[in-house]
Amino acid sequence: MVVVQDIAGVRDLCSAARADGKRVAVVPTMGALHEGHLVLVDRARSKGQFVVVTIFVNPTQFGPGEDLSRYPRDLEGDVAKLEQRGVDLVFTPNVGDMYPNGHATTVHVSGLTEHLCGAQRPSHFDGVALIVAKLLNIVGPSTAVFGRKDYQQLRVIRRMVRDLDMPIEVLGVPTVRDADGLAKSSRNAYLGPKERERALAISRGLTAAHYAFGSGERRVDELLGAVEAFVKVSADAIDYVTAADPETLEPLPRHAICSERLLLAVAARFAGTRLIDNTVIGEDSPPLARESRR
Ligand code: PAJ
Repeated sequence: MVVVQDIAGVRDLCSAARADGKRVAVVPTMGALHEGHLVLVDRARSKGQFVVVTIFVNPTQFGPGEDLSRYPRDLEGDVAKLEQRGVDLVFTPNVGDMYPNGHATTVHVSGLTEHLCGAQRPSHFDGVALIVAKLLNIVGPSTAVFGRKDYQQLRVIRRMVRDLDMPIEVLGVPTVRDADGLAKSSRNAYLGPKERERALAISRGLTAAHYAFGSGERRVDELLGAVEAFVKVSADAIDYVTAADPETLEPLPRHAICSERLLLAVAARFAGTRLIDNTVIGEDSPPLARESRR
């Protein structure tokens, strides 16, 4: 495995791999890697003979007052994990190379970015779309792998790749969770034991909605209420608990009746740490098995 910082070096190695007839698969990340990221790496390995992981804490997707400066970083640990997982190339660009003075181009995916996290984090998805477009242009993969943990991000990237005619297959991998249901996230490192326990309300709430749906409940109000019953009593603040169309991400009114698939998405704060989670009812497995619910 090689670790490369410069853009030209990565281009050369990826071109050489393609010239060798290898399919290139990429996993973009911001580092502080956990099993959720590593499962994406395994998926990439199953699709490509040359697997690239990018590690870059992208400043343009953080808003003012967000956690850019304290975002967890552990390059040495990350490199060791990726080496073990059989990655071929790790790309760790620096900010100055990715955003040279005078950079002036934006990538905006309209519509999908207006809802959910986009409503509260204006320009977040512009930063994500811009950096992912740049990384895909540098690496030139056949496949790019993302997590469904960031469901809105996945949909935004799929749309961008389609609209910009990038010849890339975008894969979405189910959310990896700890045994107790908490979705793995680099930001879980901010949680103390008490907040971590309280944060389980999110996966418990989403699970409760799954089982309500399984028992025939189709009223959006009731399904949202099942999630809220858990999250409201545990979170310090709720950014949103939303039921939305899994394709357009448009929120459904509470009085709506859902069809066979429904996105339930949550963003909530626990002692200042903002966590997100989601599930597509009618498609995903419940976050928790029935017997481990509380
Ligand atoms: P980051 O938060 O590091 O996540 C990198 C990838 O890992 C994303 O595709 C994310 O959805 C996926 N991921 C994170 N936790 C996961 C989990 N528990 N299960 C499955 N997949 C999980 O998302 C970003 O970085 C950035 O926005 C990025 C796309 C790299 C652009 O800067």
